[in-house]
Amino acid sequence: MNVSIASDHAGFEEKQLLVGYLHELGYEVIDRGPQNDDRVDYPDFAALVAGDVVSGAAERGVLVCGTGIGMAIAANKVDGIRAANVTTPEFAQLAREHNDANIVTVSGRFVADETNRAIVKTFLETEFAGGRHAGRVQKIMDLQKNV
Ligand code: RB5
Repeated sequence: MNVSIASDHAGFEEKQLLVGYLHELGYEVIDRGPQNDDRVDYPDFAALVAGDVVSGAAERGVLVCGTGIGMAIAANKVDGIRAANVTTPEFAQLAREHNDANIVTVSGRFVADETNRAIVKTFLETEFAGGRHAGRVQKIMDLQKNV
């Protein structure tokens, strides 16, 4: 599976750790930057990862900022994206099973690396449950068309 990942300056250090971890797990990683912790604007990097997911270059995306919140808000503006800001592995599982999230956003400042690793691993290994959740996810996507 191809995984696209990016951060802003606040998430840079954690992004670097997660890139290494994703390689350890055997994923193909598209690192969309940044390549240092110079100050940047998180929507620019959310757009790169969202673009990879929507185009099919990556099946899933990972975004890291200070809280993960700004990245989720930005990524969710892109048609076809369901980004979930996640702080526990349990929520990562539910974001996949119930919401079919295709991008997970995590906090580089307030959540430990060990927890973020568990979140990302769970997010990538958990399948969408479908069934009763499928119609709800479709209704979410229909909102983008103002249906
Ligand atoms: C940057 O200071 C910070 O605002 C950003 O990383 C993120 O937490 C926004 O949601």
